[in-house]
Parts: sequence; C-alpha cells; structure tokens
Amino acid sequence: MLGGQILHGGDYNPDQWLDCPEVLEEDVRLMKEANVNCVSLGIFAWAALEPEEGRYEFDWLEKIIDRLGEEGIQVVLATPSGAMPHWLTQKYPETMQVQADGKRNLPGKRHNFCYTSPVMREKIYQIDSALSERFGRKENVILWHLSNELGGNFADSSCHCELCQEAFRNWLKEKYGTLDNLNRAYWSTFWSHTYTDWSQLHSPAPHGETTMTALTLDWKRFVTYQMSDFVRTETAAVRTHSDLPVTTNFMYFFKGLDYGKMRDDLDIISWDNYPFWHKTKDEVPVAVRAAANHNIMRSLKKQPFLLMESTPSAVSWREFNPIKRPGMHMLSSMQAIAHGSDSVQYFQWRKGRGAYEKFHGAVVDHKNGSNTRTFRQVTELGERLRNISGLVDGTVNRPKAAMIFDWENWWALEDASGPRLDISYIDCILDHYQAFWEAGIDTDFLNMDDSLEGYAVVAAPLNYMYKPGYAEKVRRFVEGGGIYVTTYFSGIVDDTDLCFTGHHPLADVLGLEQEEIDAPSGDFPNAFRYGEKEYPAGSLRELIHASEETKVHSVYEEDYVKGEPVVTEHRYGKGAAWYIAAEPDMEFLRSFYGDRLKEAGVQNALGTDLPYGVTVAERMGSDGRSLVFVMNFRNEAVTVRGTGKWADAESEKTYDGSLMLGAFECLVLRK
Ligand code: GAL
Repeated sequence: MLGGQILHGGDYNPDQWLDCPEVLEEDVRLMKEANVNCVSLGIFAWAALEPEEGRYEFDWLEKIIDRLGEEGIQVVLATPSGAMPHWLTQKYPETMQVQADGKRNLPGKRHNFCYTSPVMREKIYQIDSALSERFGRKENVILWHLSNELGGNFADSSCHCELCQEAFRNWLKEKYGTLDNLNRAYWSTFWSHTYTDWSQLHSPAPHGETTMTALTLDWKRFVTYQMSDFVRTETAAVRTHSDLPVTTNFMYFFKGLDYGKMRDDLDIISWDNYPFWHKTKDEVPVAVRAAANHNIMRSLKKQPFLLMESTPSAVSWREFNPIKRPGMHMLSSMQAIAHGSDSVQYFQWRKGRGAYEKFHGAVVDHKNGSNTRTFRQVTELGERLRNISGLVDGTVNRPKAAMIFDWENWWALEDASGPRLDISYIDCILDHYQAFWEAGIDTDFLNMDDSLEGYAVVAAPLNYMYKPGYAEKVRRFVEGGGIYVTTYFSGIVDDTDLCFTGHHPLADVLGLEQEEIDAPSGDFPNAFRYGEKEYPAGSLRELIHASEETKVHSVYEEDYVKGEPVVTEHRYGKGAAWYIAAEPDMEFLRSFYGDRLKEAGVQNALGTDLPYGVTVAERMGSDGRSLVFVMNFRNEAVTVRGTGKWADAESEKTYDGSLMLGAFECLVLRK
C-alpha cells in the first residue's frame, strides 16, 4: 500500500494563497484535525513555479512540503502541464491545441496544449526534471502525478495541428506499410476516397472527412498513442533524479483515450470520481455507474488503484449541484475502497476565493473553518480510513465474473451509421452490469486484449468489434467450461471496421448465424418469454438462425418474426455460450444473469439475495483473508436476511443470520 496507509486528503493549491501565510499555517493545523495524511501539490502551479521562462521558483513549494513533512503528511507531487502559463502561450503559440475545424485555441482554460509540440515537450521536460532534482528524493514525497486529466477539455481530446497531422501520417505509415494496405483496410474505394499519397491523409473534421470510419478509429488510436508518448516524456523527466512511481488521474467513462492502452505507462492507476448523487431519489443507477468505473480502473492492472479526486460536498459544473446528504460522503468513499481503491482524495482541500471553481465543494469552505458539516464528515471518514488501513492493506478484489469493456469497440460502435444512431455502449454496459451489482457480484472489466482465464462468467454486450485473436480466446474460454454471454450486434466488424463475411466469427461457439437487425419505432412493440415471464423486446432486434444443437429459450411473440429465436444457449466444450438477440430490459437481465450465476456457482460473499439498493464487494488478501463490504445505497434502513455468521471488522459486534444497515451505511465484515 503506497505510503503505508489508506491515503486521505486531496488537491491542495497553496500557490493561490502564497500572500496569506496565516492561511497556509492554518491549513496544516486543519489537515491534522481532518485526519488528512496526503495532499497533491502543484497540479496547476506552473506560473508560480516558473514565473518567467527558465526562472524557477521552488522555495515556496519546498517550504510547504517540509512543513507538511513535519506533520507526517505525505505529498503526491504533480507536474504542471495541466495548465499553461501566459508567458508560454504568448511566446510559443504553437504549444496551443488546434481544434478539428482547424482553429487554434486562444490562451486560457487548461488541458489545451499540443502534446506533439516539441516546444511544449521541451518546456515541460525542463521544469519536470528540475522538480525531480529538487523534490524527487524528499522523504514525504511518495508519487508523481503527471499532468491532470489528460485530454480533458475537448470532446475529442486531441490536437489537429500540422505537427500532429504529420505524426499521424507517420503512425499510419508504420502501421500499414503501404497505401495499398491502408486503402484495403479502409474500404476507401467507397465514394472515391482512395488515397494516392500519404499527405492526403488528414484527421477527421466536421468540415472534412467523417465517413471513413476506419480512419476515425485510427485517429483515436493515434491520439492515445501520442498521449502515451507524451506521458513517457514526462515520466522520463521526473525520473531524471527520482525513482518514485508515476500516475496520472484518469476520468469518468472518458471516451477520448484508450486507458487500456495507457495502463503500462503508469505504475499506479488513479482516477477522479464525481458521481451525480441525489440526481433522483433512487441512487442505484448512480451507484452502479460509480462502481463500474471503479472496476474499470481496478481491472486495468488488477491491482488497487487510487481515488485521486472526489468532492467532499458538491461539484459546481452540473446544471444543478446537490450537496451530499448525511451518510453519502462516507458511503461513496467506502464504495471506492470496497471496489479496490487505497485512497480517498478530494478536489479540493480549500475553496479558492475567485474564478471558475470558487463554488466547488472543498474540505475547507470560505467561512467557518472546521465548524462545518462537510469538515466533520471528512474528519469522521479520515478516522475510519485510518482504523481500517491495516485490514485493507495487501487486499484487492478477485471477482469470478467479468464484462468486456473495450474503448475501440466503444469508438467503432458509436461511430457506425446504423442500425440506430443513438446506441450508447455505456448505457448498455451499465444495464448488464447492474444485474451483477444487484446480485452483489463484483466484476472485472476487461479489454478484448485481456485474458479470460480464471473467470466463470464473462458478459460481452454490444461487442460489435472483434479484435484479432479475440474470437479464439472466447472459444477457448467456453471450451474450458466458461459461461459466455453476448448480444445482438456483436461480432460484426474487425479492427478496421470491415464487416465479417460468410459467418459470424463465433458461429460455431454461439451455435447461430445473424441475419438482419431491426431498429423499429415504438409503434411496433414485440416481446419474448423467458422462464415464467414476458419481457419487451427493445429498440434493437436481431433475426438469427439457431443451429440444431442450439437450445432456444425464448422467441419473439408477435408480428412477422413470431417464433424466431431471441435467447439461445449453445453448449460448447465444457461450457456454454448464450446469445440475447433483442435489447432486453433490466428486469430480464436480473432474472437472466441470476440464472447464469447460479449455473456457474458464483455467489455473493454473503451467500444470500440482497434487497434493492444493497450490494456487496469483497477484497481478498494473498493469505486468503477476506474483507466484505456491504453497502446500502438507500436512504432508509434495510435488513439483509440469510447471511450466516459475520464479525464486524471495525468493532466487537457479531451478526448471526441477518444484517441491519442504516440509511447510506457501509459495513465492513469478516468471517
Ligand atoms: C476535475 C479536475 C479538478 C477540478 C475538478 C472539479 O476534473 O481534475 O482540477 O477541476 O474536476 O470537479
């Protein structure tokens, strides 16, 4: 466990308060009071660290790091590339991003640099290595925080300047070797788009190319590649005088970068979690979304991750910004720990007085010092984290179920024109995951490149693209006894978005062929029966042919497709492959996955059915010890029955047969 304890603290921006030394001194005192043991420093402090080109002013930072060190507070030290100082953009305008429409950004905001620009890379290398030299071996500095939310400001997270275009062309040359190969992969005879010179290749643009879907895919891949390359530049710089691990803070279901590809650039995965609690009274969809995101981060390295940012009260950037109701701060933070985090960090420690984020929640508000509800909640959490640190240390989740979640699939699927333009990969993933969550079954989220070994059940909804080698991997998984579930509109294209022809790549495993996919309007309802109940067939409905050995569990009940298969099962080797041909609702998914989990012998840690709103996650130690987190996301007390005997890991309490959970409560149990 980094730093020997669960980290608790967050972004600290003393550079905004340098002319108020009394505030800085009060900060340290309040941090101690709030049980803060770690802060992230310098994230957007470039202007304070290098007020003019080449003149570094690090004394203020050293003073603060040392003062924190005296109080036993550890430091995550950031590189400042997240926001550019005005002297830099003024002197080197080429460091600013160019948007897809060809317009170069004006100075301002943040996350707006060109990550290809040699000037930007050189300037950041210089300051990073100077920071490394000065602070890289300080006792209380424990981790490098590279930049901030890379790619964060703009929808496609990329720069389209001439330098980036050239780098893109070189990347394409490396990938395809010849234009013939590229043209074939892109199906570029379509609309006469055949490329005859590398210089004709250009990034997708609203006023240019958007119809070569393989080009769009490659551009997104290139953006990740180039961002990784930038991350490696920063890593090399901070490593000039330091061996500390590196991380960068990832974001909430961020489509712009393939985090699966970036995981190897980082020693530790960290991310920023801002769930929309209290959006409605039913917190479950929000809890499911946050849990899925935690799982994605944990699954990247199958190791504990760090929750790098969260708000202690409200955010300020949604249309409406509810503050956390009593209990939610504790529960939301414990949820992160339950799903594999070794920290709860905030944005931010102290509210700034001005500019864009002055109303964003912080541990210390503009007024009232420690005498606030938020401060007390943070303090209480800090104490709890300190007490469970020893228990959590060395444990991580090892689920038996997994879902395929792959960025390239996401990109290709949502860029496809047809069968519907409003397909949301994330919504579909979350619906399927919710069935696991409600059953108290933790799941890893795997990339198509990951191994399926060790899982009993793998669900791959809307798995539109099959990367090379993926079908073979699934085949081996099912052959070996795994239960594989996939849906309509899966196995359609290869990794350059070329449709498979002849047969579905897993026709033998699934025991079926796809024929057509219908995307009807609401005027044409249909349904299918599964078990005792009838469920609606949603807005995507495939027509499939089941092979003779395939068991058809459900058929369409209405219309001209009446009697055609919807839910099928095909035994293959020692396992089974299931297919859901029509978009299902939540109720079906609950019942369906309940059955598959039972067949696979996968149970939640409590071994019982959970009331709505309650879920379970389990962290295991290498010595076989396990910690079970039981979380109630309902704002009322609930009882979980049939649980057997448990000991509360945090008190002397024991439970026999049932558990009572208060509103928004999280219990930590062991056998
Ligand atoms: C994050 C960002 C922080 C802060 C926060 C506000 O995305 O990394 O610097 O702006 O949002 O919610």
